[in-house]
Amino acid sequence: MNQKLTMGVLGLGEGRSIISAVLNSRYWELGNICDLNEALCQERCQEFHFDKYTTSYEEMLADENIDVIGIYTPDQLHAEHIKMALEAGKHVICTKPLMVSLDQANELLRIQERTKKLVFVGQSSRYFEPMRRQRKDFEQGKNGDLLTLEAHYISDSRWFLERAWSRKAGFSWMYNFMIHAVDLAAWYLPEIEEVYGIGSVSENTRVYGLEVPDTMKFLLKDSSGRFASVTGVYAAPTLGSAVQQNISCTLRGTKGISQAGYPKLKYYTNFEPLQKTAELQTFDDLHDYYFRFEQENHHAGEYQNYIEYFAECLQKGKKPLPDLREGIHTLAVMEAMERSLQTQNVARVPDVLRDYKL
Ligand SMILES: NC(=O)c1ccc[n+]([C@@H]2O[C@H](COP(=O)([O-])OP(=O)(O)OC[C@H]3O[C@@H](n4cnc5c(N)ncnc54)[C@H](O)[C@@H]3O)[C@@H](O)[C@H]2O)c1
Repeated sequence: MNQKLTMGVLGLGEGRSIISAVLNSRYWELGNICDLNEALCQERCQEFHFDKYTTSYEEMLADENIDVIGIYTPDQLHAEHIKMALEAGKHVICTKPLMVSLDQANELLRIQERTKKLVFVGQSSRYFEPMRRQRKDFEQGKNGDLLTLEAHYISDSRWFLERAWSRKAGFSWMYNFMIHAVDLAAWYLPEIEEVYGIGSVSENTRVYGLEVPDTMKFLLKDSSGRFASVTGVYAAPTLGSAVQQNISCTLRGTKGISQAGYPKLKYYTNFEPLQKTAELQTFDDLHDYYFRFEQENHHAGEYQNYIEYFAECLQKGKKPLPDLREGIHTLAVMEAMERSLQTQNVARVPDVLRDYKL
């Protein structure tokens, strides 16, 4: 690319990862960083030897040098912040979840159509090394025809509820956490039509004043009858990632099986000619690329992968995916999942799309 893209980063908690990604990329430049918390702005400036910040989103949007806004604010604010960026003539990279409901989906689609700017959803788990390899093998046909897949995101994430916004309306374990597993399932089965699930709220979530399911299992079925199982458990002890990966995706096909996981960067495959035991690929040499900060729960390599994918798409005139439409479809699957929990019955994604006129 002849000219670098310039990013403005909004929200400097998880935004730390994208700052690191931008500063380490030959495709990107950092235009500005923004947070309402001025002390955090200063902390990030010091950490990254950057000499500019603002506490006003409007001020950052008014900067004509900025091409793309990276949004890492609380879930409930994403829709509004995307809207403001599009209206200011910026492309958008927004972390998951794209929104906390489909109420503003149509409005955003209309604004995007009018402004002709891109909205890319930063579904980071697609961009870990094992998940990237798994996708490549799948696209090369090594799994054969996909029969079924199992995805899970299991973590004891009670620590996340220390954030004030995570105890407010609009936060849910499903939209903030389980979306990683749902997105992986929908990536391989893009035409999910029916969902059925069971969920419960434990005391461990209730003590935070929240009444959102923290323990959930779903079956998702597509139009051709293929199905996925998706599991999420967020407020209970786990075995630890050495025993069970936090995020895992297993693809079972007619010719082979593959399993990709995070945070231990491990990729198991058994493709034809089949072996008794799966082959394991590890990516120890990439550990420090993915995990740049003090612990494995804060990471940046996959962010670097997705901003570079975004830049390469722009260079080739391709649309970076998941885009606004794909992100909205995943939210429609999750709304159907919520309906299934409420009715204890099968819920249909086309009904959700019809109800929101999507
Ligand atoms: N793997 C992933 O993809 C991943 C991981 C962690 C968090 N996230 C997402 O990142 C987002 C932020 O999570 P977090 O853990 O950093 O939360 P956080 O509370 O630590 O950070 C949010 C920041 O946004 C700032 N903010 C709020 N409103 C603002 C406004 N109007 N203008 C400027 N700044 C504003 C806050 O001051 C705060 O510093 C969430 O949507 C979360 O789902 C994604």
